[in-house]
Amino acid sequence: MFLQRTRVSILRQWGCCFNPGAMTKSYERSRALFERARKSLAGGVSSEFRKFNSPHPFVYARGEGSHVVDVDENDYLDFTLSQGPLILGHSHPEVLARVERASRDGQLYAALHLGEIELAETLQRLIPGAELIRFNLSGSEADHAALRVARAVTGRPKFLRFEGHYHGWFDNVAFAIGAPNLDAMGPREAPTAVAWSQGLPDAARGEFITCPWNDLALVERVMAAHGHEIAAIITEPVMCNAGCIEPRPGYLQGLRALADRYGCALIFDEVITGFRIALGGAQSYYGVTPDLSVFAKAMANGYPISAIVGRQRWMQPIAEGKVVHAGTMNAGNATVAAAQATIDILERDNVNARLHRLGRRLIDGLREAARATGQNAVVLGPGPMAHLGFADTDQIFDFRDTLRYDKAKGARFINAMQEHGVRVIGRGLWYISGAHTEGEIDHAIATARAVFETLV
Ligand SMILES: Cc1ncc(COP(=O)(O)O)c(C=O)c1O
Repeated sequence: MFLQRTRVSILRQWGCCFNPGAMTKSYERSRALFERARKSLAGGVSSEFRKFNSPHPFVYARGEGSHVVDVDENDYLDFTLSQGPLILGHSHPEVLARVERASRDGQLYAALHLGEIELAETLQRLIPGAELIRFNLSGSEADHAALRVARAVTGRPKFLRFEGHYHGWFDNVAFAIGAPNLDAMGPREAPTAVAWSQGLPDAARGEFITCPWNDLALVERVMAAHGHEIAAIITEPVMCNAGCIEPRPGYLQGLRALADRYGCALIFDEVITGFRIALGGAQSYYGVTPDLSVFAKAMANGYPISAIVGRQRWMQPIAEGKVVHAGTMNAGNATVAAAQATIDILERDNVNARLHRLGRRLIDGLREAARATGQNAVVLGPGPMAHLGFADTDQIFDFRDTLRYDKAKGARFINAMQEHGVRVIGRGLWYISGAHTEGEIDHAIATARAVFETLV
């Protein structure tokens, strides 16, 4: 039953039907259901990030390909892809068929099965730093495991992390994810790591040193002072949780060299970049192999699976049980089958090349639309994911620079796009899927241009 596919009415002929002025949406059913949800779900949602939608969180009914439909029958061209996972688009028939087949054999043995061995072998083949692998459900857990094992191997207490990078919601990484303004961040050389949540233990602050990203000379100074106590340098290889910022040439190589010099682990958090920027992640795309890395989101097209992968030396304590890594639900039949199907399709159809091609088209088109309408939109990113914000400079290299984005204008843009049936992540991030077409990319650009015409 759960595999029964629903029909979504998809308007393919964007060119002839596009008329932004005619589109006024009703969100009444969503509003009523959200009010109901607030009486049972804390805050009306199941994850903090789902609250941030205007005028209120929407309730979705179904998705197919590049489209998602809410309970008011509003049909959106979807660039959120459920925060990134749906790299092949919603309800991909081959993924669903593999999941159904695997689920008929059983759901969870909580023991070894052939699928997980094959999946691990596939990751070994595709990801440069994947000598040994363990599967989890979420990126947060896998990041947690990576930091634990880095501590075990080095015998050191702390890790170095970067402002604006997100490594999940656990205590010791729930800092320095955002800041209200530059003043709150303190000096570059000695940043104040703003807590993201109440309820964090004071001791968590002592577990990490924070640093602005993309500034190798600064990391060198920090490592010179603290290298002896650093177990790991953890980074998103492309900074995607604030803007979408690529590493400066030589930056990741520089982090690699510093980790080697000071004998700590280099951890790439590839939760967003993994399988998206390249099949082997940012490590294969930029040619820098970390000691440990974490994959999740796009790995299984919407099914919950993550992986901690690493060099033999760094994964050995897990292999030997000296570092405990566990989870009842790890590597269930459905999630493993979804990952196998997703990766097979990505590889067979060379989807990554398509994501880059479509992403380039989107970035170029949005830039041209901004130029033609006199908007100060800044569009950055490698293509498979991109960010649009409004700022008077395109010199955006780290989290502090992203504070120059005009957030209120960004929100007006996102809301207007939504009104016209194009769904983009609230912070300005766009994800491309293999289900998007060139016509849909052009439609999104035309919509953005129409919005730019009146945006103040
Ligand atoms: C780079 C990065 N790391 C870790 C996570 C946490 O992953 P999860 O939400 O699966 O726990 C995220 C989630 O957005 C992420 O973007």
